[in-house]
Amino acid sequence: MAGSDLIRPPGSAEDWTVPQDWASYTPDEHAMWDTLFARQAEMLPSRVVPAFMDGLDILRMSRPGIPDFDELSDRLMKATGWQVVAVPGLVPDEVFFDHLANRRFVAGRFIRTPEQIDYLQEPDIFHDVFGHVPLLAHPVFADYMQAYGEGGLRAAKLGMIKQLARLYWYTVEFGLIRDGDALKLYGAGIVSSFGESRFALDDPSPNRIGFDLQRVMRTDYRIDDYQQTYFVIDSFEDLLRQTLETDFAPIYASLADATDLKTDDVLADDVVFTHGTQAYAHSRLES
Ligand code: PHE
Ligand code: FE
Repeated sequence: MAGSDLIRPPGSAEDWTVPQDWASYTPDEHAMWDTLFARQAEMLPSRVVPAFMDGLDILRMSRPGIPDFDELSDRLMKATGWQVVAVPGLVPDEVFFDHLANRRFVAGRFIRTPEQIDYLQEPDIFHDVFGHVPLLAHPVFADYMQAYGEGGLRAAKLGMIKQLARLYWYTVEFGLIRDGDALKLYGAGIVSSFGESRFALDDPSPNRIGFDLQRVMRTDYRIDDYQQTYFVIDSFEDLLRQTLETDFAPIYASLADATDLKTDDVLADDVVFTHGTQAYAHSRLES
């Protein structure tokens, strides 16, 4: 992910990448990956978009241990022309967008400790690689990620990164997708989280609302807890088509004066799959 006001760490290249240094992972670190992988692999098959399971398979990600980025990139390159590169932590927005625009996914190389198994502040390699990389083997999703990077470079010039970042948040990180009458997971922040992979689909608390580009770009999000609203896309094809066909510049112009929507707002013209009780969010406020 991206941030601002960052200083490039010594030892990183001009594009902020570092060697993954796969040989230096300890047995405990590989075991942590395996533990996290086993938990999600058991829960996800019935809940996640089938393309995610296909990606795990195409990329042979179910083998034990932390994946080696060079090997992963070889397989990904053959599937969709993407690569995975290591970075030391957060990178500046424009560096992040530029990598995506060139079909390079930036991933952290560190893995959480046992104390952080269910909660950590910064994305680790399990979130970045298990959460994000399988769908990069899907041709349409892969094109969406590249288009997002190009859109980011443009948004940066227009001073509208905050609005565009909401699109990333509510699709790439926390998106839900329709599968016939059912909903499935595809956002990396959900599929890499033991708790949220259940909550996002099953809990009566959050809203589940049909995806609408402008609506999403107006809506705040929370980074400290489970989401209060998830947005549901029809298909990756539809997401890619809508975002490619729409010129964001006029939307940015209209959003510049619009008020932001709150994380739990439900509007009269929303397509509502679930009008959430918000019981979970309220219980967290009281405690
Ligand atoms: N069409 C968008 C624009 O005009 C670019 C974009 C494409 C942004 C796909 C996000 C995802 O800026
Ligand atoms: Fe992420």
